Amino acid sequence: MTKAAPDAYLIIITNPLNSMIPLACEVLKEANKLNARKVFGCSTLDSVRAATFVGEAICKDPKTVDVPIIGGHSGNTIIPLISRSNPPACLEGDDLQKMIKKIQEAGTEVVKAKAGKGSCTLAMAYAASRLIFSILRAADGEKEIVESAYVKSDVMPEVKYLASPLLLGKCGIEKNFGLGKVDECEKKMFCEAMEILKKDIEMGEKFAKAKICEAQKNSKKS
Ligand SMILES: NC(=O)c1ccc[n+]([C@@H]2O[C@H](COP(=O)([O-])OP(=O)(O)OC[C@H]3O[C@@H](n4cnc5c(N)ncnc54)[C@H](O)[C@@H]3O)[C@@H](O)[C@H]2O)c1
Repeated sequence: MTKAAPDAYLIIITNPLNSMIPLACEVLKEANKLNARKVFGCSTLDSVRAATFVGEAICKDPKTVDVPIIGGHSGNTIIPLISRSNPPACLEGDDLQKMIKKIQEAGTEVVKAKAGKGSCTLAMAYAASRLIFSILRAADGEKEIVESAYVKSDVMPEVKYLASPLLLGKCGIEKNFGLGKVDECEKKMFCEAMEILKKDIEMGEKFAKAKICEAQKNSKKS
């Protein structure tokens, strides 16, 4: 890609996404081709699930529900901001906790149900197509297109990569909206998620650096 299509958008679906985006960015950086505005970790399925489950709970069509997602794309790092659900979800206590867990564990549930035969496929295809069409519509000049995705980020100094709502534009990410307003429960979840994210990011970067080093050694030998 760095040689054949260095200006292309890169949208990664393969897990572990929390580490794959740092890994990809290291490789692009090494080739001097990193344009972080065009590198996306497809965490759209978390947005789709949040809208679906919250929509069911409040009897609204999921297509009309928006729940911003921050954090990462695995278990506890997925933080649905139910406090900012539009329309409001008004979930509290046990109901709220159950909803958060349901969104965070939905992917694992599918993997378990398929018992070694892969993960969700149709839902993923829908989520990926949604992100791709949003990126293309924005590239074509359509305004005010916002999607949450896991990307290189300077929103929080502690983590170099983060999922958050993004304004898409003609050249990829136009603006990162960051965390925005979060309530106390969401803030606590985010602090816990950051510790996991830091390790996941480091793992991806280390892997990329080791592979780059190995490739450089091999090319010197030959
Ligand atoms: N971002 C998301 O929300 C999301 C959602 C679903 C799945 N995923 C990820 O997408 C990936 C694929 O999921 P799946 O359910 O289709 O899995 P799967 O196990 O059904 O398919 C994986 C395929 O990759 C092939 N493969 C494995 N190692 C390979 C290699 N080294 N070179 C070439 N091919 C290789 C396997 O033969 C298999 O056909 C996984 O990483 C999964 O975690 C991400």
